[in-house]
Amino acid sequence: MQDDISDRLVKSQKIVFVTGAGISQESGIPTFRGKDGLWRKYDPMKLATIDAFYEDPKLVWEWYEERRSNILNAKPNAGHTTIAELEKYRKVSVLTQNIDGLHQRAGSKNVYELHGSIITIKCTVCDFKDKITSTFSTLPPMCKCGNMLRPDVVWFGEALPQDTWESAIEEASTCDTMIIVGTSLAVSPANLLPVYAKQNGATMIEVNIEKTQMSSQMDLSLQEPAAKALPEILGIILSGKTG
Ligand code: APR
Repeated sequence: MQDDISDRLVKSQKIVFVTGAGISQESGIPTFRGKDGLWRKYDPMKLATIDAFYEDPKLVWEWYEERRSNILNAKPNAGHTTIAELEKYRKVSVLTQNIDGLHQRAGSKNVYELHGSIITIKCTVCDFKDKITSTFSTLPPMCKCGNMLRPDVVWFGEALPQDTWESAIEEASTCDTMIIVGTSLAVSPANLLPVYAKQNGATMIEVNIEKTQMSSQMDLSLQEPAAKALPEILGIILSGKTG
């Protein structure tokens, strides 16, 4: 790593991570746009919509139940645990597009779930909302009020939870280092967060096994898996090493 980037990392006080499906790939959770992206013959981009849900709620729920079970059985990997570890030494927050809760399970405290949570279930009509980790015996599951339940996730075409989004902008606008991990940055508005950090003059680092549309705008673009690259970055920050 270049000396000046190492120096900036060592001196950084507020580090904001923007994470996507790639950080959980090494926990066995498929990414959306990768080669294993299709579920049965369906495109996740079409299933994760309000129209698909009302057209065939059973099918969409089968997809979510399979993912819920996979996610609940998955374990955080070295990428997640490294971010949690860094919280002991620096001000850290995690702006995640992931709905799997693995950052929190790894011990991260300051997590903003931009796209909601697959563990939280809510009613399509009434105010019911709760964390549910058991499987449902019939699909779609129904609320006590008689209407369908749905996962508390943000589907394409839906707005992000406003408080979470405003906090994410605030975090991105006030960090001195932003580390973008395992996201194709294909989805708006989450892909605007790096712009806020850049406007604040933050050091910009990307960790991804492939190049993305923002790689060329990074101070450092590491083309490595998250579980390998993040412990290396932590090592540099903690050692105070400048080379
Ligand atoms: N380490 C680092 N990066 C990885 C790894 C890994 N082990 N494996 C895959 N990647 C990278 C891929 O190269 C890709 O750029 O992770 C990225 C995953 O991109 P997407 O599948 O597009 O996932 P994400 O960016 O999180 O998608 C954003 O789209 O479908 C919606 O709401 C869903 O939150 C999701 C959003």
